[in-house]
Amino acid sequence: MNKYLVIGNPIAHSLSPLLHNYWFKKYKFLDSIYEKKKVEKKDLKKIVEQIKNDEIKGVNVTVPFKREIFDLIDTAPHEVQFTKSVNTLVKENDKVVGYNTDQEGFEISLEENEWDFKNKKVFIIGAGGVTPSILSSFIRADGAEKIYLSNRTRSKAEELKKFWDKAIDFYQMNKDTIEIIDWGEKSELCDLIINTTSVGLTRDEKLDFDFSDYNNNKEALFYDLIYNPKETNFLKEARIRENKTMNGKMMFLWQAHLAFKKWTGVSPKIDQEVIKLLD
Ligand code: ATR
Repeated sequence: MNKYLVIGNPIAHSLSPLLHNYWFKKYKFLDSIYEKKKVEKKDLKKIVEQIKNDEIKGVNVTVPFKREIFDLIDTAPHEVQFTKSVNTLVKENDKVVGYNTDQEGFEISLEENEWDFKNKKVFIIGAGGVTPSILSSFIRADGAEKIYLSNRTRSKAEELKKFWDKAIDFYQMNKDTIEIIDWGEKSELCDLIINTTSVGLTRDEKLDFDFSDYNNNKEALFYDLIYNPKETNFLKEARIRENKTMNGKMMFLWQAHLAFKKWTGVSPKIDQEVIKLLD
């Protein structure tokens, strides 16, 4: 049996097993099984060893271990060495390699909606494990005009800014591109407001921001990386304000597609059937 895992804490909400097992069946990998496992930090080393000795074939890593796992793997591609955020593990040439399919998944999810990354004003909420993957999508030649960043623990946002200001410099973007906003404070109106925090995973949780300036703004897009529940309070309030909304489902599907391809060589189809499967 080829065993695959998604590890995290909490992990109960993950729909990865449903999705990957669906694809294993569809593409006739009948000796493969994908399970979820709640782990503690101390368990991570053993999981990496189990990949090395072929007890586990592939692993997805989710909150809060995307950064921690980076220190335990053998190697990672250049862009991952930059973000230090890993969501997919696979053994290649006897080495445990850490990939990140979140960033590409995020970019595809927006590009599918004809989103153009150029010259946009973006408000990123959070500075956790997934945030570097989101941030780096906007830092490039022809990247964002302005990136506001806010995190409950301000020092973590400052650390991110300090690090990514080097990339801002490299791409010759305006040196003030990234600006930190105090938690709960307003930024100027943005084109895209993204929740990268875990606030909303539990139904009654709510972010402490006042977005009433966006009332009736039909152009602004509120994007929550959370896909389960389907509509967090962040998105519900945006819908009521008549803003555009998007949850993390398509990003989730695309990051899973890219991981599945790394493990099996097969590019699984993202069609209406698989989109519905997650409803
Ligand atoms: P990670 O280890 O990847 O950072 P995490 O602990 O779930 O995962 O944190 C993800 C993000 O959610 C962080 O930005 C975190 O803010 P802090 O850095 O201040 O911890 C944010 N977050 C989690 N719970 C929160 C809450 N109740 N209110 C505000 N932000 C929260």
